[in-house]
Amino acid sequence: MIEYRPLRIALLGAGSVGSQVARLLTENKAELAARVGAELELVGIAVRDLDSPRNAGVPRELLTTDAEPLILGADIVIEVMGGIEPARSYILQALNSGSDVITANKALLATHGTELFDTAEQVGAQLYYEAAVAGAIPIIRPLRESLAGDKVTRIMGIVNGTTNYILDRMDSTGASFETALAEAQALGYAEADPTADVEAFDAAQKAAILASLAFHTEVPLEKVYREGITKITPEQIVAAKRDGYVIKILAIAERIDDTEGEAGIAVRVHPVLIDRNHPLGAVRGAFNAVFVEAEAAGELMFYGAGAGGVQTASAVLGDLVSAAKRHVAGGPGLADSVHANLPVLPIDRVQTRYQITLEVTDQPGVLAKIANTFSAKQVSIETVEQYVSQISGKRSKTATLEVGTHAATDAALSSVVKALEASDSVESITSVIRVEGI
Ligand code: NAP
Ligand code: HSE
Repeated sequence: MIEYRPLRIALLGAGSVGSQVARLLTENKAELAARVGAELELVGIAVRDLDSPRNAGVPRELLTTDAEPLILGADIVIEVMGGIEPARSYILQALNSGSDVITANKALLATHGTELFDTAEQVGAQLYYEAAVAGAIPIIRPLRESLAGDKVTRIMGIVNGTTNYILDRMDSTGASFETALAEAQALGYAEADPTADVEAFDAAQKAAILASLAFHTEVPLEKVYREGITKITPEQIVAAKRDGYVIKILAIAERIDDTEGEAGIAVRVHPVLIDRNHPLGAVRGAFNAVFVEAEAAGELMFYGAGAGGVQTASAVLGDLVSAAKRHVAGGPGLADSVHANLPVLPIDRVQTRYQITLEVTDQPGVLAKIANTFSAKQVSIETVEQYVSQISGKRSKTATLEVGTHAATDAALSSVVKALEASDSVESITSVIRVEGI
């Protein structure tokens, strides 16, 4: 039986995500009311332009360009406008007026999260953001609640669907980066300006949010190491396949112990070689997945649609039901804790394996010289493959060397690469890529 007063829901934005939130709220009104114990009454939808075409299911009579009175009269505010301003000011206004807020806005959380979470805590309101990372995939709530009693040691995620689609097309068709990007744009995955996706700004924002939650530590976006996929070549894809790997771009957040200096966490996003049989190696198309390692739980994998209006709306509605139940039941909600306050360490401290591909002069002693360059920097070689290049059917004067290393620090590897660049036996370095997942 529903005895609680109707809860007033304000929706900010009626684009890809907002229009689906509005439709599902309207279509599933009775079912949601039964689950929550109160009716969820959509009282208004703020947009920029009242005359823009809207998806079916958006009640046009609720549209307004005047967001402030809508926010001030709501119990729960859903922000799916995107961007920094006015989204930031609207969320602060909502929290300060006692409303709980649900947002899908990773760009805002990654840059102004501390301000927003501090405000929520001060006023006793809740800020929910399941949709901000990996769309429909439940990953925020598992980290925030289900794993709250465990100790997460590492997270590796495919958190950007556009770049996973591009790399998957390059892998399955042999296409160049440019061709695969054009396909992603034609399908609506990539924007006309694809920079945020292909240069990994989007994934870095998501990595900062996940790392902060998993390690109870504030992670400023500028401390997330970031490399995009624009330089990945078809030759690298072919070589990866030959060796049983696939190239993925991963967001990785991990604890680093104190064997070499200060303990802390490192957060990075970059292309990697990963075993084709690793659960992340099998993630195809525009799907996302997050692989979590925790001390007691062991390895966990969360997989699904990382974007899309209706898929993302599912995560928003999950948060809405949680927020609404809190209103009905009363009492304080959960606050995210940053009590651990671990240092966020630079990429130099990260230890991983590498694969380096070089064109070298094919002469006696060259292999030994290359091996010495690695050992001089304390980087241990695990595998070496040599391929003799053919030019017009003739053996060329250079050979291709593919060197796989044992785990080494990024700092040590960088100094090896510098020394190789300076070596007169090395014609060119054609690929330096980290190897993960072993
Ligand atoms: P979108 O399609 O561009 O829609 C944005 C909506 O916000 C539009 O209805 C727009 O109004 C409204 N809006 C923008 N600025 C406004 C302002 N100053 N005042 C009032 N209304 C304003 O965006 P989206 O794809 O739905 O994304 C929304 C949020 O969800 C973003 O933070 C995004 O990062 C996040 N997200 C999206 C996806 C996805 O697959 N789309 C996945 C995960 C997370 P008009 O329609 O009048 O222009
Ligand atoms: N551009 C993002 C992606 C959408 O490709 O995953 C959701 O953040």
